[in-house]
Amino acid sequence: MSEKILVLGSNGQIGTELVNSLRKAYHNDNVVACDIRRPDYETLHAGPFEFVNVLDKDNLKEIYQKYQPTQVYLLAALLSATGEQNPKLAWDLNMNGLLNVLDFSLAYKTAKVYWPSSIAVFGPNSPKQQTPQYCTMDPNTVYGISKLAGERWCEYYHQKYQLDVRSIRYPGLISWKAAPGGGTTDYAIHIFHEALKKGSYSSFLSEGTELPMMYMDDAIRGTIELMDAPADKIHIRSSYNFAGLSFTPEILAEEIKKHIPHFQLNYASHDPRQAIADSWPASIDDQMAQRDWAWKPEFDLSKLTQDMISNLRK
Ligand code: SER
Repeated sequence: MSEKILVLGSNGQIGTELVNSLRKAYHNDNVVACDIRRPDYETLHAGPFEFVNVLDKDNLKEIYQKYQPTQVYLLAALLSATGEQNPKLAWDLNMNGLLNVLDFSLAYKTAKVYWPSSIAVFGPNSPKQQTPQYCTMDPNTVYGISKLAGERWCEYYHQKYQLDVRSIRYPGLISWKAAPGGGTTDYAIHIFHEALKKGSYSSFLSEGTELPMMYMDDAIRGTIELMDAPADKIHIRSSYNFAGLSFTPEILAEEIKKHIPHFQLNYASHDPRQAIADSWPASIDDQMAQRDWAWKPEFDLSKLTQDMISNLRK
């Protein structure tokens, strides 16, 4: 059977790269990019694009009707920092967007659904180091609350209606192609741009703030590997812990200095994102992803830094 894949929220940091990879794997015509905003020239002209608002049920229904998708990726969301500026909108988009997509995917018999969760599902009382799959979870951002609730809905739709929904708890994702979307981990992208432009960066997270991170190439590959895995291997239907590497601003800065020796890192004071970062894990135990679908990251800090700098220099 040939696949027809919808990517909802295709213009964001993940969507931009996921659409490219899926188009390579499944042919351009079979991957429909969908967003509320017009995409970049390449995405618009390489394959189908539709204006879609995931909160508009008539609009969604039309798209499911037109394409009869076999796979749907729902990426439209408000992230942690932007979510705190508009909690009700974050809840509405993150929750109702998911419920709409789960319902239409059932109604139109979509074979597989992908929905991203986040390390933001953990909170101040979760273990900080090597945070396990199952532990205390007390998220204190509206983003984290919506992701934790969303995970429960995904598992519910799988258990109750046998919907094949799959999910990953992404760490901070580092990439150079598309701008990050208002998260707490965005400093780890801004730092590269400023290092190359100005030779210095003022970090909104303080020294010693260690967070789980991953290079986008690994994240996209892992996502597609999870979606390609046989259904009977997928034992977690809430969302998988998923790890790449962990670092602090000063460790990243030291690595950048190997390429830009005069680079200087400073710290900005009193940023609300610090409290969010402080409530999150420093590192993640992802042994279940390793066990169930053979997950293994490829990018360590040196490879990530080298790739970011050489691509941004171009
Ligand atoms: N990168 C995201 C954020 O900082 C985490 O899922 O909000």
